[in-house]
Amino acid sequence: MTKGKKVTIYFCQSCGYESSKWMGQCPGCKEWNTFVEESVEKKAAGKVKNVVGGNKELKTSKISEIDMQDKERTQTGFQELDRVLGGGIVLGSLVLVGGDPGIGKSTLLLQVCRNLAESKEVLYISGEESLQQIKMRAQRIGTFSDNLQLFCETNLEQIEQVIERQKPQTVIIDSIQTIYSEEVGSAPGSVSQVRETTGRLLQIAKGMDITIFIVGHVTKEGVVAGPRVLEHMVDTVLYFEGDRHASYRILRGVKNRFGSTNEIGVFEMREKGLVEVENPSEYMLNGKPQGASGSVVACSMEGTRPILVEIQALVCHSNFGIPRRTAAGTDLTRVNLLMAVLEKRAGLSLATCDAYVNIAGGIRMNEPAIDLGIVMALASSFREKAINEKIICFGEVGLSGEVRAVNMAQQRVTEAKKLGFDTCILPKVSIPGLTDTKGIKIVGVENIREAIGKIG
Ligand code: TYD
Ligand code: MG
Repeated sequence: MTKGKKVTIYFCQSCGYESSKWMGQCPGCKEWNTFVEESVEKKAAGKVKNVVGGNKELKTSKISEIDMQDKERTQTGFQELDRVLGGGIVLGSLVLVGGDPGIGKSTLLLQVCRNLAESKEVLYISGEESLQQIKMRAQRIGTFSDNLQLFCETNLEQIEQVIERQKPQTVIIDSIQTIYSEEVGSAPGSVSQVRETTGRLLQIAKGMDITIFIVGHVTKEGVVAGPRVLEHMVDTVLYFEGDRHASYRILRGVKNRFGSTNEIGVFEMREKGLVEVENPSEYMLNGKPQGASGSVVACSMEGTRPILVEIQALVCHSNFGIPRRTAAGTDLTRVNLLMAVLEKRAGLSLATCDAYVNIAGGIRMNEPAIDLGIVMALASSFREKAINEKIICFGEVGLSGEVRAVNMAQQRVTEAKKLGFDTCILPKVSIPGLTDTKGIKIVGVENIREAIGKIG
């Protein structure tokens, strides 16, 4: 092969944006200080590597001719994970599991290995921990079958050899930022290394029909390439998130070629590893104060599942010219907009007030259906009147103060009923779509004035 020319390129470590010169802010993802110099070998033009298992003859196909050998799904032993994956693991897929360091990615995948190894060959490749460290973790989790093989290695060429020899059904790579290929000049964790190694793993997954899970750390500092650089290459992208100080963790699907996205799985980190949370709403509402103003329960759809959360607001008189507003767990711009709507359409003089809005439990929610909850919580705190704790509300709020329809109203009502709520405030226009309202009072509202009239 002709040796290519070495060139220096600056890569954004957060999103993979390429530039010939260093820049302070990335034009792609708007992050600051993420550009790092990498030397890349430009391949001679026209040399495209053959994909393992790719079509050798140049033959095109008609849809009707394609043979559908049923891509069966393997259950992971975690229903929460199966749902996020769209019903289980698809053979030959490449799954990226991203998240902050220490959030529990290795723990989750080791537990998945344990479940899979009961019937299948699994290979866990770690570039971060020694065999002894993995064993220590494994001992906390439980007993493991011998179908699970461990391998500590960071060299991609050796990893490829081992996979080809062992032919396991599932491979875990922990983490992609520690793996390097000899063919790329730059350091492990750089954008070019991470892209090359993922590309090669993709060929293995598709060529040998092996499912590969890749762990990718999210780092703020931009010293190693983030998982976003790889999102477009893999079949499924899952992010593991949660408050480091709280014990629960949320696994969120952001891309899935084999199912719907936006699904979430809820886990709790215990001493013996991760445990599934079967009823997240109950979990999120734990510790809700009784009779306090500025607190209301709202309902958000996360994928196909309704989740009830407590929205808290604290509104107080501001001592500064520009009032302070903060939002934790939701979008601040949205909160500011809703406060302006409350001021203009419901006559609450909030312009001189500080306001703090918080989604209790540390979960992030951005569905417009929680608008009504935010509005109710703000109004309740402003008037210092508590909202009855048996009330739940949902609905999108428009700029004229109108309460707009939301989808899947029935599922939300059913969830509220299941958790013992007796009144549901919702958009009037959503009422005709409801099919079962037995045992719960349905209050339809057209605008926010009507809604906040139900407080106290
Ligand atoms: P880990 O899976 O190593 O995180 P990541 O791979 O995402 O970097 O998670 C480590 C954290 O989980 C660590 O702070 C300890 C905690 N942990 C438990 O609380 N219980 C357990 O049984 C295990 C194995 C870990
Ligand atoms: Mg780890």
